[in-house]
Amino acid sequence: MPKRAVCSALLALLTTTTAYATDQATIKKGEALYNQNCAVCHQADAIGKPGFAPSLTNPELLSIASDKFFESTIRDGRVGTGMPPFSHLGRKNIKAIVAFLRSHSKLPNRAKAVDAQPESHGDPRLGKQWFDDICSTCHGVNGDGYAAGGTGTAIGKAGFLNKVSDGFIRETIKHGRSNTRMLGFSDASGLANLSDQEIDDVIAYMRTLVNK
Ligand code: HEC
Ligand code: HEC
Repeated sequence: MPKRAVCSALLALLTTTTAYATDQATIKKGEALYNQNCAVCHQADAIGKPGFAPSLTNPELLSIASDKFFESTIRDGRVGTGMPPFSHLGRKNIKAIVAFLRSHSKLPNRAKAVDAQPESHGDPRLGKQWFDDICSTCHGVNGDGYAAGGTGTAIGKAGFLNKVSDGFIRETIKHGRSNTRMLGFSDASGLANLSDQEIDDVIAYMRTLVNK
């Protein structure tokens, strides 16, 4: 190999190694911050606790949630739920926590494609029937969340609705979240077999809840 090529190969290797080391340092820092600030509710390794705090290392969540979703949810918390705001930690620390959460990823990151999905075109009146029949059992009437006594989060409140795309909601309803009580609704293993149109009806109804 000519000398120049050896040099640039070494340089490339060095750059990759340094980037890797920086990533590892950020993840370690994020882990420490997570243990100090979040583990009390979200549990060790962020596996969550039904009816108390959701899993943050769930493969489906990590796969469809953007960094923006994580960062802004951590910064602002969710008003009217048990999730407090953490803006005092600052952007850099919040990013480190997200890097730690992402280090648990098992599925490819599809957040961009999911957020680019078309908005729902549904009938909120039909969606309300599904919601009241099925979703409210766990998420509460009006999607009030744990406060209603179930295991599902507050999907009818602004803290959730204003931070997610229709694609995010659609994917969650279709495929659920493995190892939680949130099963997918688009196949026979789910609690109900909802068509794409019915899922869009549910999303259209959920969007009306933000003002309640
Ligand atoms: C006092 C308990 C508590 C603490 C501490 C806490 N959370 Fe939460 N967190 C919750 C609850 C409860 C929810 C669900 C709120 C709802 O019903 O929508 C939640 C939701 C979330 C969500 C949304 C998850 C999803 O499935 O959409 C993220 C992200 C999150 N928390 C990150 C964090 C991080 C990171 C920390 C530490 C910096 C933290 N939380 C600390 C209780 C807590
Ligand atoms: C058997 C209980 C149960 C039912 C029924 C249920 N869910 Fe869930 N859902 C959950 C749980 C539990 C979670 C959070 C998973 C966790 O704790 O990690 C969740 C999470 C979600 C999320 C993500 C919320 C967030 O904070 O990120 C959405 C959206 C959602 N469910 C929509 C629905 C809709 C719409 C229906 C009705 C078609 C429904 N769910 C029915 C239990 C349920």
